[in-house]
Amino acid sequence: MKYALMAAAAMAVIVTGGAALSTKTVQAEEAKNNYGVSIIPEWNEKGELIRPKGFRHTWVFIGSPFTPNALNGGAAGFPEYHNVYVQPDAFHAYRATGKWPEGTMMLKELQLTDHPGEEEDGSRYEVSGRGYFPGAVNGMDVAVKDTKRFADSNGWGYFNFGHHAPPYKASAPAAPKEACAQCHIDNADEDMVYVDLYKPILTPLPN
Ligand code: HEC
Repeated sequence: MKYALMAAAAMAVIVTGGAALSTKTVQAEEAKNNYGVSIIPEWNEKGELIRPKGFRHTWVFIGSPFTPNALNGGAAGFPEYHNVYVQPDAFHAYRATGKWPEGTMMLKELQLTDHPGEEEDGSRYEVSGRGYFPGAVNGMDVAVKDTKRFADSNGWGYFNFGHHAPPYKASAPAAPKEACAQCHIDNADEDMVYVDLYKPILTPLPN
């Protein structure tokens, strides 16, 4: 029984493992990974993005830019680690083609440092040395590639699920272009993503 279930799940992954992650090519029931987590963006009746689930254990963690308060005049806009995840299919497609497929979701969960302020620069000590260490999670943003839905913001829509401790909002409307997309249009490395920051992880290890 266990093996039958695993085989069925594996087939679903193969069926949905193509380049496009869009709802147009993937039926809702097939659009789950083998942990029952949706691999495509889901929208509610108001056209809001439903908060993606299961990303911590079923998506790929591609990097964690970090802008602590101490290095930003004591008040960084986002003083947390910015933990960035992407769906496995999108990760593999990018490695293979250098392009993010339709339906790609970049999910950024913010994570505070623990014991802020133990030293003047907010650092503290572990037996490994002096540094910054992960504390409570504190917010969530998502970017979705859908070139039709978000044609007027370079093919990506941006969603904020709250900048606070969980629970995060159940769904979020697309943020106004000037709130999010414009800065990515003006500054991102490639196709709206600050991909140079994730290249070290996106690049396969040499054997
Ligand atoms: C002032 C510029 C700016 C604005 C405004 C901005 N971002 Fe970003 N965003 C960045 C930068 C720079 C990075 C990568 C480095 C980092 O995370 O610090 C990033 C990274 C991201 C990522 C991870 C994937 C990627 O593109 O690297 C997501 C998701 C994201 N932002 C969502 C949002 C959302 C949602 C909003 C609006 C609520 C927003 N951003 C507003 C500059 C901006």
